[in-house]
Amino acid sequence: MSKISKPIIVGNWKATPKDLKTAISFVKDLEKKLSKNKIKKNYLLAVPDVYINSLFNISKFGIIGAENLTGNEEGQTTGLNTPSIISSVGAKFIILGHSEVRKRGETNQSIKEKLTNTLSKNIKTILCVGEEKREVNVNYLKFVEDELKECLEVSKKEDFKNLIIAYEPVWAIGGISPATTNECFEMVISIRRTLVELIGMDNAKKVSILYGGTVTKENAHSFIEEAGVDGLLIGRASQNVDDFYSIIKSCL
Ligand code: 13P
Repeated sequence: MSKISKPIIVGNWKATPKDLKTAISFVKDLEKKLSKNKIKKNYLLAVPDVYINSLFNISKFGIIGAENLTGNEEGQTTGLNTPSIISSVGAKFIILGHSEVRKRGETNQSIKEKLTNTLSKNIKTILCVGEEKREVNVNYLKFVEDELKECLEVSKKEDFKNLIIAYEPVWAIGGISPATTNECFEMVISIRRTLVELIGMDNAKKVSILYGGTVTKENAHSFIEEAGVDGLLIGRASQNVDDFYSIIKSCL
């Protein structure tokens, strides 16, 4: 895949837009704006599985990926998409463990099985972690540490080069207030510490960490500047072409 430029800007389209025609217009429109303003930076866009191939075929700067992995192995499992099915239509990365998927029954155990598979197949994988709420007694750091350890327990060290971590505090997703940059920074340090414990300093340094949760065109830059992250995972603001363009531009 083309090299991902930093900061890593990832849109998560969730169950939008309403149809393929609108999805194609969005990407064409966004890339017209990028070209017109001579912005060469690439962006990542996680989209509904059925849009992947069409967007992969038309996109020049976009790296198209999947929002989730429904199936893990080829076989008799009606309705599920495996890493090889998703990759074969153009997906260059997969998000795993998003809190909206966890709410529908995904567990650290099922994420671990999928993640071990995608990483070993050389597919860039964004693993989402984040606490439900923040208690004063700082349990949230331990909560995220446990999520990381449980999801990454059996992955091989050499496969971590394909891993990206997204810190998405559940309380900040889909709301009006993001985490503060200080709150994010504290968690990034804790995540880095856990990664060092798991795979050693040299390997841990290679893992990028993103922030997600009410990122807007107004606050995007401050996370990159002040919160110690390598990029952003963006929901609603990636579903509006002007906002997404502004974020890409502000994070050059
Ligand atoms: P919002 O940016 O809409 O809060 O969503 C964040 C998210 O869930 C990205 O994966």
